[in-house]
Amino acid sequence: MKRTKIVDIYAGAKPVGSEVSVMGWVRTRRGNKHVQFVALNDGSTIRNLQIVLDMEKFTDEQLRPVTTGSAIHIEGILVESMGKGQSIEIQAEKLEIFGTADPDEYPLQKKGHTLEFLREKAHLRPRTNTFGAILRIRSALAFAIHRFFQERGFFYLNTPLITASDCEGAGAMFQVTTLPLNELPRTEDGSIDYSADFFGKQAALTVSGQLEGELGATALGAIYTFGPTFRAENSNTPRHLAEFWMIEPEMAFYDITDNMQLAEDFVKYCIRYALDNCHDDIEFLSSMYDKELITRLESVLADSFVRLTYTEGVEILEKSGRKFEFPVYWGADLSSEHERYLVEEHFRRPVILTDYPREIKAFYMKQNEDGRTVRAMDVLFPQIGEIIGGSEREESYEKLMARIEELGIPMKDMWWYLDTRRFGTVPHSGFGLGFERLVLFVTGMTNIRDVIPFPRTPGNAEF
Ligand code: 4AD
Ligand code: MG
Repeated sequence: MKRTKIVDIYAGAKPVGSEVSVMGWVRTRRGNKHVQFVALNDGSTIRNLQIVLDMEKFTDEQLRPVTTGSAIHIEGILVESMGKGQSIEIQAEKLEIFGTADPDEYPLQKKGHTLEFLREKAHLRPRTNTFGAILRIRSALAFAIHRFFQERGFFYLNTPLITASDCEGAGAMFQVTTLPLNELPRTEDGSIDYSADFFGKQAALTVSGQLEGELGATALGAIYTFGPTFRAENSNTPRHLAEFWMIEPEMAFYDITDNMQLAEDFVKYCIRYALDNCHDDIEFLSSMYDKELITRLESVLADSFVRLTYTEGVEILEKSGRKFEFPVYWGADLSSEHERYLVEEHFRRPVILTDYPREIKAFYMKQNEDGRTVRAMDVLFPQIGEIIGGSEREESYEKLMARIEELGIPMKDMWWYLDTRRFGTVPHSGFGLGFERLVLFVTGMTNIRDVIPFPRTPGNAEF
């Protein structure tokens, strides 16, 4: 008999009274000497399926290995349930055991493990209700992202993970090398001889696909990337990972206003998609961790995002009378306490902050007439702070060159990027959404380590 997934059983794929075959992992077993009940989960839904084992048909011996965490196959009849808590159940006819899970060894016993404990068991935590829900929501959001862009005629562009250029200029890159670390080849002046390295030059894991994304946008019109990015910043916060996934759309003929509208439409589309398609999982997480979750998601969809310049934002913060841990003044890089004050207390909805001081933003951003700000935009969200960073790009070859020289960025590595400005340059814009920050927002989790299957953070590359 062909196996039916539990999600499909609840969706009515099989009529009551029919024979079904289900496979999954045992969450609990309880009962008495006449009848035993197994709560079975196969990962397809947060909902367990109740299996009823009539002890006239099964022996204690047969059921002994059916413990929490074991994997089994059941064939039986789908019936309406008379018990509380479920509408249907399976009257088991046949039991097959795929794999046992010794109760003295299996770490995920019934319930109540802390998220910290589960981080240490990241290889098994997908089998818990919480992580099953999070991972299904994450998968749905990834699909929504592709759908949003594909519906709008954007092309999916794969940018390299190994690169020789530092897009954000922050210098927080993981080097990629095959040089022998204990006897590095040296040039005459004593520096490392990268010409002997695998790529013939110094290479690293990318911090962003944007620069190559711009090459795509100035050819295909509108592209998006969706892939892993790497940052070696030593920031141990609930919002930073050393390896995270980023979505970077880049559009020719877009100014910053178009860019802001796309960003707003985009995040709203993703949140709407999750509410419409992940109802059970969101409901579960809300009931377990955050009663306000669904209200918060709906409220973000209800209003348009505030648009505000950095200068106006700093004025609001200065006048707030609030004592912040980090001081605010014009020119300061805002930290998440400042961002969250604007979003959660002052405006009570998402804010798009624009026109930041050029000193705190990347070299490629379009310079404003005032000579001191650039056409940057950060989308700030409740609970999260910065969820998106982007800008209109400097399309003038002369102005871009001047900025690159001012910052002392090595020119010879940038020649291919500069060619976009030398040949058929156009106004263009783009942004980057941190995928895990979106998943954090939608799931209501508070630590970014809990929304990626296997987090990479300073001091941790287990699993
Ligand atoms: O603001 P960032 O650094 O912008 C860029 O990388 C641009 N190249 C994007 C573009 O214009 N195409 O990063 C973009 C977003 C942030 O807003 C944040 O959501 C996320 O990426 N992010 C991180 N997420 C998790 N861990 C980290 N260490 C992150 N750093 C940035
Ligand atoms: Mg940023």
